[in-house]
Amino acid sequence: MTTARHKRDVGDVTFNGLKLLTSPGVVMTPRPASEQLVAAACARIGDGEARVVDVGTGSGAIAIAIARACPHAEVWATDTSLSAVRLARGNVRRHGLAARVVVRRGDLLAPVLGPFDVIVANLPYMPASSASDHPELKAEPFAAVFARGDGLDAYRRLIDGAMMRLADGGVLLLQLDGRLVSADRSELPALAAALAVPGSQLAGALFAEAA
Ligand SMILES: C[S@@+](CC[C@H](N)C(=O)[O-])C[C@H]1O[C@@H](n2cnc3c(N)ncnc32)[C@H](O)[C@@H]1O
Repeated sequence: MTTARHKRDVGDVTFNGLKLLTSPGVVMTPRPASEQLVAAACARIGDGEARVVDVGTGSGAIAIAIARACPHAEVWATDTSLSAVRLARGNVRRHGLAARVVVRRGDLLAPVLGPFDVIVANLPYMPASSASDHPELKAEPFAAVFARGDGLDAYRRLIDGAMMRLADGGVLLLQLDGRLVSADRSELPALAAALAVPGSQLAGALFAEAA
């Protein structure tokens, strides 16, 4: 039986041309900006075989879109949120991808075995103290978007993990301030150094060349 509450709590979104179930207020609803991560991953993988992990998968949007676009990719996805893991698994089944997309609950790369050719992530990166400056994010689950301190600890830890889990020739793709950050294995130490600067100066440190 579908209750009124159930109806209200489940939504639909189109991401990268794919219809996905959402859980507003419980799991982050995927944004068009994250499609740039899919495009960058697919440009790297093409039709080839690749092992990919989507860290902080939420609804599973990025993992599913990569698997649909890259027919020979083996895709893993992780999230600390049980609600996200359940929603992502439901979306994986909805798209008939259970044989190629595996969703596991846990911290960053801990639930999966490397090496990976592509590590992709849109993790929380906004400082919790800035929440009142972002009314547009009020409807999203707080912990999916905001983190303590300068907000960047999850990315710092992920970069540390990527140094051990990224395959030779692999790439780390992050979304930060709505923009794409891409680093090959050899560039990870420089990226870690850039993220070591205080959050308020980060955009300048990372995107100075592009500006
Ligand atoms: C900004 S949301 C993005 C969700 C999805 N990647 C997207 O683009 O729609 C961040 C997600 O990361 C998850 N998350 C936060 N910290 C995590 C961690 N340490 N390890 C794994 N997932 C984490 C949150 O539960 C949330 O689902």
